[in-house]
Amino acid sequence: MSARLEHLRERLQTDGWAGAVLMPAINLTYLTGLRFHPGKRLTLLLLSASDTPPVMVLPQLELERVRASVTFAARFFAWSDAEGPLKALTTGMEAAFGAGVPAKPIAVEHSAMRVMELRALEAVAPGIRTGDLDPLLSELRMVKDAEELLLMERAVAIVEQALQAFLPHIRPGVSERALSRMLSEAILAAGADGESFANMIASGPNAANPHHENSDRLLQTGDLVIIDCGAVYRGYHSDITRTIAVGEPDPVARHIYDIVLAANTAGRDACRPGVSGAAIDAAARSVIEAAGYGAAFVHRTGHGLGLETHELPNIVAGSDTPLRPGTTFTVEPGIYLPGQYGVRIEDDVVITEYGSRSLTTFPRELIVV
Ligand code: CO
Ligand code: CO
Repeated sequence: MSARLEHLRERLQTDGWAGAVLMPAINLTYLTGLRFHPGKRLTLLLLSASDTPPVMVLPQLELERVRASVTFAARFFAWSDAEGPLKALTTGMEAAFGAGVPAKPIAVEHSAMRVMELRALEAVAPGIRTGDLDPLLSELRMVKDAEELLLMERAVAIVEQALQAFLPHIRPGVSERALSRMLSEAILAAGADGESFANMIASGPNAANPHHENSDRLLQTGDLVIIDCGAVYRGYHSDITRTIAVGEPDPVARHIYDIVLAANTAGRDACRPGVSGAAIDAAARSVIEAAGYGAAFVHRTGHGLGLETHELPNIVAGSDTPLRPGTTFTVEPGIYLPGQYGVRIEDDVVITEYGSRSLTTFPRELIVV
């Protein structure tokens, strides 16, 4: 069994589950390296908390491809379109969990499993009890191993190279939408498998909206422009924001920028093993509050980053879990003044053995183009 799958199995056992049933989605890729196209045909990995090998129930047309790419001992129960999945699921459940309905609950991904799969489980094991697997998997995925960190560093290097190549396009008279397309192209040209999310170009007053949708607004001299983008490399995401000035900004804009940069620095400086997301948030937020702009910092300081752009931990009040080495997340304080402008500076940070390291190294001083 893969080390990650084995680790999950051990945790399922200690946490009192009969086992887990996983969807052909991101957690299964994390655990096994297997990749699937999203589809309607029932495909499930059944993992017992005891020592029986994992079971895959899958459509006949996927069997050879999956069998060839599986790197651990698994048993396969394939079904054809003509017969449907229930017979294969029945024998698969029996192979994984023994005859009869499991006495303990089965963990399933509440955020990924569809009613279709849940109903199929209930049909073949009437009275089956299920619970949420997401918290445990989020916990396991939060701490990255060396291999994952290498991929994240590559995702960061790609987006920073793209951002550097993109900067000369930023000038008065170009629309946010046109710039967004150029940035997308730059990210792909730099070697990304895709963008982590639809990039954001928020100019002038639009920058006061943290979740601005790119518009046809043309950049003007005096604008601050928030650029938020990321690259995916072999499944791993980067996420960076820089705020650029189009021409010399007015003194207030520069003042706001300096406050956000100080908050970003304070947030990153607070990152070390054992610190909580709440403490990092407080470190960044207190700088902005002390400067009198607390009400203009309208979102959390950051979020976990990895196979998805938003995962655990949340860097926000109430997030009290001590962070362990290998945990990756963003630090992205901002100030948003409706009708005027906004500033956000976002970095990707990893907790290390003795402190922390910013994976993003793109210059943070205000760039004026
Ligand atoms: Co971002
Ligand atoms: Co972010």
